[in-house]
Amino acid sequence: MARVISGKELSARLKDEMKMQVASFPEKYGRVPHLVVILVGEDPGSVSYVTGKAKASEYVGIRNTTIRKPDTFTEAELLELIGELNADESVDGILVQLPLPKHIDEDKVIAAISKEKDVDGFHPLNVAALWQKQDCILPCTPKGIIKMLDSAGVDIKGKRAVVIGRSNIVGLPVAKMLLDRNATVTIAHSRTADLPSVTRNAEILVVAIGRPKFVTADMVSDGTVVIDVGVNRNPETGKLCGDVDYEAIEPKASVITPVPGGVGPMTICCLMENTIECFLRKMEKNPF
Ligand code: GUN
Repeated sequence: MARVISGKELSARLKDEMKMQVASFPEKYGRVPHLVVILVGEDPGSVSYVTGKAKASEYVGIRNTTIRKPDTFTEAELLELIGELNADESVDGILVQLPLPKHIDEDKVIAAISKEKDVDGFHPLNVAALWQKQDCILPCTPKGIIKMLDSAGVDIKGKRAVVIGRSNIVGLPVAKMLLDRNATVTIAHSRTADLPSVTRNAEILVVAIGRPKFVTADMVSDGTVVIDVGVNRNPETGKLCGDVDYEAIEPKASVITPVPGGVGPMTICCLMENTIECFLRKMEKNPF
């Protein structure tokens, strides 16, 4: 039986700490941090994510402005809006919810956000800084995963870690962060030849592929630490589920994260942390 890491509990604790910290800001700095979230279009998943971000901001005491635009909003209009927010001294963090409608070039949009306000840690200069071991804003989901491993007392150093998934948002940065903690890391993907033989060798398995029950019990050795980053709908029940066959794998794993209630809440929690970090760097004139 695995120990289940509750991202919900851990994030609640961390948000309580941040709430106290933010409460001291008006006196110290004259205001609270301000996060602007931009959503283009009506994708229900994205609407729910931005609502979660607004709720967490409200709880922690961060000022949140959510700007919703129809999916007819053009790339030029979005770039202009970002330019205005970059120049706005009252804005500390800017997040553009992904994915964007197809007529908008995501790479162009991400690169347009001021690096100092890039609370997602997606700007090419932030990504480069991570890979060069320089000061940077860490992307929220990978940062949340490392916090969960630390809170569960998992010693990352010297472990064989396998990451399934190679996205810019999760797979690649989490692999780099595990490497920086002295794990030996293998990056695999949905087309990796004989994937089960790779994953059975893992002591820490991070799965970010986006397919229900992608990881089956035969792919996991006894005692593995399993981090499930998937957010899917179970095609039979319509319920939220991860990428691992939870019922089959939980008895074998030593530690596991549930979906929902695992990595998801930690991502939002780290977004709050990054917003505070951007705010403090500005207030204390300690830019990247
Ligand atoms: N879409 C899915 N995850 C994320 C995220 O972490 N940040 C943004 N901006 N969009 C996302």
